[in-house]
Amino acid sequence: MPSSSQDDLVRRAMARATGEITDAMTVDQKADALEDALSEELDSLAVPPSALANPQFPVQVDDNPEGTVLMHREPRLPEMPQKPTLIDFFKLRWAPASHVLQSAALARRNGFSDRIVLACLLHDVSVHGLIRTDHGYWAAQMVEPYVHPQVAFAIRYHQALRFFPNPDVGYEYPEKYLKWFGEDYVPPAYIKADYEYAKGHEWYMAARQVTMNDLYAFDPNANPKIEEFEDVIAREFRRPEEGLGFDRSPVAHMWRTMIWPNNFL
Ligand SMILES: [Fe+2]
Ligand SMILES: [Fe+2]
Repeated sequence: MPSSSQDDLVRRAMARATGEITDAMTVDQKADALEDALSEELDSLAVPPSALANPQFPVQVDDNPEGTVLMHREPRLPEMPQKPTLIDFFKLRWAPASHVLQSAALARRNGFSDRIVLACLLHDVSVHGLIRTDHGYWAAQMVEPYVHPQVAFAIRYHQALRFFPNPDVGYEYPEKYLKWFGEDYVPPAYIKADYEYAKGHEWYMAARQVTMNDLYAFDPNANPKIEEFEDVIAREFRRPEEGLGFDRSPVAHMWRTMIWPNNFL
């Protein structure tokens, strides 16, 4: 990102935060408000390839000028290669994906294993590319055929574990959740039940380690690049020969949906 756009980003974040900052706030609270605003500005840089992005308003396409529906070509998004890899999805559908890249970089800095670094790298990709609701479950399912089951487990259960502190390993209830969900928020029963299940599982710490590295560090100058994780991906993410979306796996349709999020049918 050139420095002028970094300056613009910070300027827009400052403008966004100004409306929320009051004299009564502590310095920490003001810093939090600015960080939230930076996060929102960073997110706004991403191309939104959501499956829910206006499918009812298709654009006309060149190869069928008479047609009124959009199929297999989305002029608002970069074209994907015929045999897309995980890295293609990072670059062409999920970019900038700052949060997961920064979480994976933190996990690596903290000395965690390849599997945990990969789990951190993938833990929220459903939010970047497909759907927000129950994002841990969706993200785990998307990658399950290609990773060690422990990686899918860690991704699936990080969603529930985020709501439950584990002070023994330094994981506290996220301050942001107090703001987003309110002070009295009680997670639904299925989240509580899945937390209890995960807590008794031999891979509990893998999911917990994802939550321990699940941090926002919004420094637009220090954005890790997906290339930095090529080695981990090569070791821990099985690459289907036909490309993601075309390998006839039980989740291939999820990857195709991210390639063509707005197909009429
Ligand atoms: Fe998450
Ligand atoms: Fe996250």
